[in-house]
Amino acid sequence: MKIYKVSNYHEMSKKAASILAAQIVADPKSTLGLATGSTPIGTYEFLCKWYQEGILDFSQIKTMNLDEYKGIKRENSQSYYHFMKEHLFDHVNIKEENTHIPDGECEDANTICREYEKLIQKGNGVDLQLLGIGRNGHIGFNEPAETFARECHCVTLAQSTIEANKRFFEKAEDVPRQAYTMGIGTIMKAEKILLLASGEDKAEALYQTICGPVTPKVPASILQFHKNVIVIADEAALSKVK
Ligand code: PGA
Repeated sequence: MKIYKVSNYHEMSKKAASILAAQIVADPKSTLGLATGSTPIGTYEFLCKWYQEGILDFSQIKTMNLDEYKGIKRENSQSYYHFMKEHLFDHVNIKEENTHIPDGECEDANTICREYEKLIQKGNGVDLQLLGIGRNGHIGFNEPAETFARECHCVTLAQSTIEANKRFFEKAEDVPRQAYTMGIGTIMKAEKILLLASGEDKAEALYQTICGPVTPKVPASILQFHKNVIVIADEAALSKVK
C-alpha cells in the first residue's frame, strides 16, 4: 500500500485525478472502475476540466461503476446513474455504451448480479478502480459482515450507511434499503486500486483499514492483500495513523 497524505479535499482530488489522467493517457482504452458519493466529486471536476482543456480523451475509455441502489429509477436524482451523468459522463466525450452501472430498476437480483460480474471480467477486467470508504469501512456497498463477498451481489444497507446517505434524500425513509454492488472479490481483481478518504469522520475506518487486522468486519481492510493500492487521504482522515 502506498499512502499519500495531503492537506485537504482539494489536494486529494487533484492527486487522484492526476493518477486517473495518467492511466487514461497511458492506455486510452482503459477500463476504469468508478465510485459515487461526496468523495470523488472533486476528482471528477478535475477530469472534466482537463477534458475541456484538451488534455484528456475519453472516446475509448470504458467504465464500470461499483454499485447502484436497488429499486431506484434511473431518472431519480439520487440514482448513481444520475450522479455519474451529472458529475462526469455529460461533460466528457465518453460513449454512453461504454459506461456501465448495475441496473437498479431490475428486480431480479441473481440475474443482474451474475451478468454484471460477467461484464466486468470480460476483456481484461478493471485497470484502475477508484474507491471511497464508508464510515463503517465499507467499499462499494460491501457492508461489515461475517465473510467477504466474492462477486457482485445484492446487499441490505447497514443502518449507519442509511444514516450517512440520508443527507442526499428528503427523508431517511426515502433511502433505498438495498443495493447491487461489486463484491470484494470483484474489487480485488482490479489491476490497480485508488482509495480516497477525506475528513475526520473517516479517520477510524481508515486507521482500521491500514493498521488493523484483515477482517470482513472492516471490508476495506482486505486491501492490505492487494498488490497495487494507492491511498490518498487528507490529514484529518489520516489523523489516527501514526
Ligand atoms: P462518501 O461515501 O464519499 O459520500 O463519504 C463514501 C462511501 O460510502 O463509500
